[in-house]
Amino acid sequence: MTTTLTTTTVPRRSPQGAGPRVAARTPVGWIDEPYTRFTLTPSSPTIGAEVHGLTLAEPLDDATFAELHRALLEWKVLFVRDAGLTTEAHHALGQRWGQLETHPFMRYVYDTQSEDLPAVVRFEKGADTTGFENTWHSDVSWREEPSLGSLLHAIEVPAVGGDTLWADMAAAYDCLDDDLKARISGMTAVHDWWTSFGRGMEQEQRDALREHFPPVEHPVVRTHPETGRKTLYVNAIFTQHIVGLDAEESDALLEVLYRQATYPEYQCRFHWTAGALAIWDNRATQHYAASDYFPQRRIMERITVVGDRPY
Ligand SMILES: [Fe+2]
Repeated sequence: MTTTLTTTTVPRRSPQGAGPRVAARTPVGWIDEPYTRFTLTPSSPTIGAEVHGLTLAEPLDDATFAELHRALLEWKVLFVRDAGLTTEAHHALGQRWGQLETHPFMRYVYDTQSEDLPAVVRFEKGADTTGFENTWHSDVSWREEPSLGSLLHAIEVPAVGGDTLWADMAAAYDCLDDDLKARISGMTAVHDWWTSFGRGMEQEQRDALREHFPPVEHPVVRTHPETGRKTLYVNAIFTQHIVGLDAEESDALLEVLYRQATYPEYQCRFHWTAGALAIWDNRATQHYAASDYFPQRRIMERITVVGDRPY
């Protein structure tokens, strides 16, 4: 796969108007090496690729894992159909990326964390619990160190509906016009879980958790720690306001920035089949779980890898 565009050749355009939204897939200077351990089918020009010829039931050798990680950096989200994963193999695969995250609120909100493998979160949606992750977001951006990424495994899925969409937030940043890029350069924003997870909690729980997870401030544009690429880092669930702006100005600017994730040109969409696995780079993307399958069942297991502090 060869990259033909660099960020310097991307046409400049209004962040809100019609016209081309053509972005580069990898940063300037990135060298595209061929993949030797598997093949990829792109889902869109810049984000998402389905991996073929990879068996995940057994541990990956180091060279194959290194190539898979490189593919993740280059495509931001990878899909493996019929991954052949048990919960334990899924857990072990996640550990190849580093320390696993235990989500502090899942047991209050979903009560679905595994006792044996607490890093595995099981989402069971259907007649009793509807899906409500249908707002564009980057996971746990309210943490000081938001996650590196997640591995989401489909256990049971509806015949139709329940797709997940991902947005390439580096492409979204690159296609902002220069004035807007200059305006948001150096800005920071406050992220908090209070207005999302906090709403489903008892007051006492919320107050106790608040001490451990106070609001955090992150750059509006973060630098990807491995690719060096600039990435738009505000999201409609967790970002509260931009530091130093009054509420009206902050809301108006955030509205424009949130909207960037909603453009199809920066997105890919995955139709799940049972046994499929998606691995995404949470530092480079936002995602949206379509909630269109109620009351059909959708059961997923998620493993999340600890990341580092955005800069
Ligand atoms: Fe999420």
